[in-house]
Amino acid sequence: MAIRKIRTIGDEILRKKCKPVKEITPRIIDLIKDMFETMYEANGVGLAAPQVGILKQIVVIDVEDGNQYVLINPEIIETDGEQTGPEGCLSVPGKSGTVTRPNYVKVKAFDADMQPFVLEGEELLARAICHECDHLSGELFVDKVEGEIEDVTLEEEEEEVEEY
Ligand code: NI
Repeated sequence: MAIRKIRTIGDEILRKKCKPVKEITPRIIDLIKDMFETMYEANGVGLAAPQVGILKQIVVIDVEDGNQYVLINPEIIETDGEQTGPEGCLSVPGKSGTVTRPNYVKVKAFDADMQPFVLEGEELLARAICHECDHLSGELFVDKVEGEIEDVTLEEEEEEVEEY
Protein backbone atom coordinates (compact mmCIF):
# COMPACT_ATOMS: atom_id res chain seq x y z
CA MET A 1 0.00 0.00 0.00
CA ALA A 2 1.07 3.53 -0.55
CA ILE A 3 0.05 7.07 0.22
CA ARG A 4 -0.90 8.81 -3.00
CA LYS A 5 -0.58 12.48 -3.79
CA ILE A 6 -3.85 14.34 -3.30
CA ARG A 7 -4.61 16.65 -6.20
CA THR A 8 -5.67 20.14 -5.20
CA ILE A 9 -7.99 22.74 -6.68
CA GLY A 10 -6.60 24.18 -9.88
CA ASP A 11 -5.60 20.72 -11.08
CA GLU A 12 -7.70 20.09 -14.18
CA ILE A 13 -8.18 16.42 -13.36
CA LEU A 14 -10.55 17.41 -10.53
CA ARG A 15 -12.88 18.96 -13.11
CA LYS A 16 -13.17 15.95 -15.39
CA LYS A 17 -15.90 13.32 -15.45
CA CYS A 18 -14.88 9.86 -14.26
CA LYS A 19 -15.44 6.68 -16.22
CA PRO A 20 -17.35 3.72 -14.81
CA VAL A 21 -15.37 0.70 -13.63
CA LYS A 22 -16.05 -2.37 -15.77
CA GLU A 23 -14.18 -5.00 -13.80
CA ILE A 24 -12.10 -5.31 -10.67
CA THR A 25 -8.43 -5.79 -11.45
CA PRO A 26 -5.45 -6.08 -9.09
CA ARG A 27 -4.67 -2.45 -9.93
CA ILE A 28 -8.11 -1.38 -8.76
CA ILE A 29 -7.78 -3.37 -5.53
CA ASP A 30 -4.44 -1.61 -4.91
CA LEU A 31 -6.02 1.74 -5.73
CA ILE A 32 -8.83 1.19 -3.21
CA LYS A 33 -6.35 0.22 -0.47
CA ASP A 34 -4.22 3.25 -1.28
CA MET A 35 -7.26 5.53 -1.24
CA PHE A 36 -8.14 4.42 2.30
CA GLU A 37 -4.55 4.85 3.44
CA THR A 38 -4.30 8.27 1.81
CA MET A 39 -7.63 9.36 3.30
CA TYR A 40 -6.70 8.24 6.82
CA GLU A 41 -3.30 9.85 6.60
CA ALA A 42 -4.96 13.15 5.66
CA ASN A 43 -7.63 12.79 8.39
CA GLY A 44 -10.42 12.80 5.83
CA VAL A 45 -13.75 10.98 6.01
CA GLY A 46 -14.03 10.35 2.29
CA LEU A 47 -11.96 10.30 -0.87
CA ALA A 48 -12.78 9.98 -4.55
CA ALA A 49 -10.44 8.48 -7.15
CA PRO A 50 -9.95 11.71 -9.13
CA GLN A 51 -8.49 13.26 -5.96
CA VAL A 52 -5.55 10.90 -6.43
CA GLY A 53 -5.47 11.48 -10.18
CA ILE A 54 -7.51 8.47 -11.35
CA LEU A 55 -10.57 9.21 -13.49
CA LYS A 56 -12.62 6.21 -12.38
CA GLN A 57 -15.91 6.12 -10.50
CA ILE A 58 -14.54 4.92 -7.17
CA VAL A 59 -15.21 6.40 -3.76
CA VAL A 60 -14.12 5.41 -0.26
CA ILE A 61 -15.84 6.69 2.86
CA ASP A 62 -15.23 6.24 6.59
CA VAL A 63 -17.34 8.49 8.77
CA GLU A 64 -16.34 6.50 11.85
CA ASP A 65 -19.60 4.55 12.02
CA GLY A 66 -17.66 1.29 12.08
CA ASN A 67 -17.78 0.76 8.31
CA GLN A 68 -15.36 1.23 5.46
CA TYR A 69 -17.54 1.94 2.48
CA VAL A 70 -16.31 1.35 -1.06
CA LEU A 71 -18.67 2.70 -3.69
CA ILE A 72 -17.93 1.79 -7.29
CA ASN A 73 -20.04 3.42 -10.03
CA PRO A 74 -22.30 5.00 -7.40
CA GLU A 75 -25.62 6.47 -8.39
CA ILE A 76 -27.79 8.43 -5.97
CA ILE A 77 -31.33 7.14 -6.43
CA GLU A 78 -33.21 8.91 -3.65
CA THR A 79 -32.75 11.93 -1.41
CA ASP A 80 -34.82 13.49 1.32
CA GLY A 81 -34.67 16.46 3.65
CA GLU A 82 -31.95 19.05 3.98
CA GLN A 83 -28.91 19.76 6.12
CA THR A 84 -26.88 22.93 6.06
CA GLY A 85 -23.42 22.96 7.57
CA PRO A 86 -19.69 23.40 7.17
CA GLU A 87 -17.87 21.31 4.63
CA GLY A 88 -14.26 20.95 3.64
CA CYS A 89 -12.37 18.97 1.02
CA LEU A 90 -8.95 17.34 1.02
CA SER A 91 -8.48 18.88 -2.44
CA VAL A 92 -9.21 22.38 -1.12
CA PRO A 93 -6.83 22.44 1.83
CA GLY A 94 -7.37 24.93 4.62
CA LYS A 95 -10.76 26.13 3.38
CA SER A 96 -14.34 25.52 4.40
CA GLY A 97 -17.76 26.76 3.52
CA THR A 98 -21.42 26.23 4.23
CA VAL A 99 -23.11 23.74 1.93
CA THR A 100 -26.69 22.48 1.94
CA ARG A 101 -27.06 18.78 1.21
CA PRO A 102 -29.88 16.27 1.50
CA ASN A 103 -30.18 14.88 5.02
CA TYR A 104 -30.94 11.41 3.66
CA VAL A 105 -29.44 9.72 0.63
CA LYS A 106 -29.97 6.32 -0.92
CA VAL A 107 -27.21 5.28 -3.31
CA LYS A 108 -26.77 2.19 -5.41
CA ALA A 109 -23.26 1.07 -6.19
CA PHE A 110 -20.96 -1.92 -6.58
CA ASP A 111 -18.62 -3.09 -3.84
CA ALA A 112 -14.96 -4.09 -4.15
CA ASP A 113 -16.11 -7.53 -5.38
CA MET A 114 -18.27 -5.84 -8.03
CA GLN A 115 -21.40 -6.97 -6.20
CA PRO A 116 -24.31 -4.51 -6.37
CA PHE A 117 -25.62 -3.06 -3.14
CA VAL A 118 -27.73 -0.21 -1.84
CA LEU A 119 -26.55 2.10 0.94
CA GLU A 120 -28.69 4.51 2.89
CA GLY A 121 -27.11 7.34 4.82
CA GLU A 122 -28.21 10.23 6.97
CA GLU A 123 -26.47 13.36 8.17
CA LEU A 124 -22.66 13.02 7.92
CA LEU A 125 -22.81 9.87 5.79
CA ALA A 126 -25.36 11.48 3.45
CA ARG A 127 -23.13 14.54 3.14
CA ALA A 128 -20.07 12.38 2.43
CA ILE A 129 -21.88 10.38 -0.26
CA CYS A 130 -23.05 13.57 -2.01
CA HIS A 131 -19.64 15.23 -1.76
CA GLU A 132 -17.82 12.20 -3.18
CA CYS A 133 -20.34 11.62 -5.97
CA ASP A 134 -19.85 15.27 -6.96
CA HIS A 135 -16.11 14.61 -7.29
CA LEU A 136 -16.87 11.87 -9.84
CA SER A 137 -18.60 14.40 -12.07
CA GLY A 138 -15.93 17.06 -11.66
CA GLU A 139 -17.73 19.17 -9.07
CA LEU A 140 -16.19 20.60 -5.91
CA PHE A 141 -17.89 21.88 -2.78
CA VAL A 142 -16.69 25.38 -3.59
CA ASP A 143 -19.19 25.38 -6.47
CA LYS A 144 -22.04 25.03 -3.97
CA VAL A 145 -20.90 27.18 -1.07
CA GLU A 146 -23.42 29.59 0.39
CA GLY A 147 -21.65 32.78 1.34
CA GLU A 148 -17.91 33.04 1.76
CA ILE A 149 -15.25 30.40 1.51
CA GLU A 150 -13.35 30.73 4.76
CA ASP A 151 -9.90 29.89 6.00
CA VAL A 152 -9.93 27.14 8.57
CA THR A 153 -7.62 27.21 11.55
CA LEU A 154 -5.88 23.99 12.44
CA GLU A 155 -7.98 23.55 15.59
CA GLU A 156 -11.23 24.03 13.70
CA GLU A 157 -10.11 21.63 11.03
CA GLU A 158 -9.45 18.95 13.60
CA GLU A 159 -12.57 19.53 15.65
CA GLU A 160 -15.37 20.80 13.46
CA VAL A 161 -14.94 20.72 9.73
CA GLU A 162 -14.84 17.33 8.09
CA GLU A 163 -12.90 16.97 4.87
CA TYR A 164 -13.93 14.68 2.05
NI1 NI B 1 -13.59 16.50 -1.55
